[in-house]
Amino acid sequence: MKLAAPEQLHERARVKAFTADDIPYAMGVDHGRGFAPTSMCHLSYTPSYERLNEAERRLYSQIVGQAIAEQFIFLEEHLLIPALEGVMQRMGGRLGTTLRMCFLDFIAEEYKHSDMFWRLLETAYPDQYPQREAAVYRQSKLKARMLTLMTDWPTFLTVWIWLGVLFEERTIDLFRKYEADPAVDPLFKEVHRFHMLDEARHVRIEEHLLAEVYDRTPAWQRQLNARLLNRVLRMFTHPSTSPRVAIEIVMQRHPRLRAFAAEFDRDIAGLGQNMTFQQANFSRGVLPQTFNLLDEYPEMTHLREGLPLYNRK
Ligand SMILES: [Fe+2]
Ligand SMILES: [Fe+2]
Repeated sequence: MKLAAPEQLHERARVKAFTADDIPYAMGVDHGRGFAPTSMCHLSYTPSYERLNEAERRLYSQIVGQAIAEQFIFLEEHLLIPALEGVMQRMGGRLGTTLRMCFLDFIAEEYKHSDMFWRLLETAYPDQYPQREAAVYRQSKLKARMLTLMTDWPTFLTVWIWLGVLFEERTIDLFRKYEADPAVDPLFKEVHRFHMLDEARHVRIEEHLLAEVYDRTPAWQRQLNARLLNRVLRMFTHPSTSPRVAIEIVMQRHPRLRAFAAEFDRDIAGLGQNMTFQQANFSRGVLPQTFNLLDEYPEMTHLREGLPLYNRK
């Protein structure tokens, strides 16, 4: 991989800087629109989506949009920020001064993103966020446990760096999906546009983390982390908890849909094998940089279960 010069990355952070106040929250959100593009709604890749009428689809998309915002907050506040802070503490002066500055930019920007998403959620649902706590995003206990382990041992369980690469790049694709959906709420779209502006640079910073942290670990440790990556990615490419929570809320509000609960269940269970879903969300086409980076690491050859469409170049 060819690393971007830290000086340039730091300079770009300075020149392109924006604050959460640049986002036009005062415009409010339009509850007559969806909050997530249809292409982010899991069931839209499956036959049972046909069971939802227009109002139900809109509600479904609003819950998904809310969950996406909460998930970003979670990943940034509870994974990326603590893991990167841990790396800086452990590596101390071994990191170059400018690279340290890039890492500090990164941390400050992730705090800003998390604030941006909270403000979006508070604008959309003033009653649901008296404290800044997730209202709809749930994750399995196993996933939460694994994320905590990574932040406790960020230079040993380096798998979080790969998750960072993948999720930062996914942010860029996510905005593309928002942009492609004319029915989606403009403020949600705008927040994702601002988010994407920083994330393209974050992928380049993650590459430095690969070089400084991941690449310095012995082969057996990289093997271990590759196996962990396979396990953790599987939870995202074979999602179960979050699609079930979203459709459960839709069914609570529209009880007539309970008649189709078994179909929703079946379709959610099939997402891992649903190649249209995988193609749209976890393929080389949407994550070219992540896939190209994985290609450089022989231990990633067997990354199939976690990333079903991963085929090496
Ligand atoms: Fe972010
Ligand atoms: Fe980021």
